[in-house]
Amino acid sequence: MPGTPGTTGPFSRVTPVERRTFLRYSLIGSTAAGLGFFGLASLGFLWPRMGEGFGAELVVGGAEELLDEIQSEQAPFHFPEGRLYVVAWDPSVAGAEEQYGTDHVVLDETHGLMAIFQRCPHLGCTVPWCQSSQWFECPCHGSRYNRWGEYTDGPAPRGMDRFPSRIDDEGELVVDTAVLLTGPSRTGNVLQQSPEGPACVEA
Ligand code: FES
Repeated sequence: MPGTPGTTGPFSRVTPVERRTFLRYSLIGSTAAGLGFFGLASLGFLWPRMGEGFGAELVVGGAEELLDEIQSEQAPFHFPEGRLYVVAWDPSVAGAEEQYGTDHVVLDETHGLMAIFQRCPHLGCTVPWCQSSQWFECPCHGSRYNRWGEYTDGPAPRGMDRFPSRIDDEGELVVDTAVLLTGPSRTGNVLQQSPEGPACVEA
């Protein structure tokens, strides 16, 4: 009959797809779609995220303004969203450039910025800043760290951990809280800063 698939007329060259072939292509298609989705999800996970809280790259603020505030307050800039402190450091101090210059911001010959993780490397307490001593002092077991987060005393195994940082095109400090840099060793105290007043925590 004219027009009937598989006989004559315009449908005469249409070949019915075998059930096995159809199933094979369906399987290949769904597998490829699944792999593609997984790949995109993995890329999204690995790709640095900007401005989404701890675990992302975070814009903390203008580098020059941060330095001014740290110097005028004589205290690190606390940035709770990133669980970090920004401290001012001096690349001209002997050994400082070698220890910190690669991963932290250098603004000029005597000024830089460094992002320090607020968590104590002993057992993980949040370490507050002690204004009177100008040190970080952990209330949990008495570990203490100088102004740059370097180990001074107590049970902590090392100085406070850090995050890499950079300055973006707008002059703002960007800290990557997805990457944790292990703090300097107990003997890696290049600042050699003595306490500048009464302690907040007994050693
Ligand atoms: S957690 Fe800070 S000294 Fe133990």
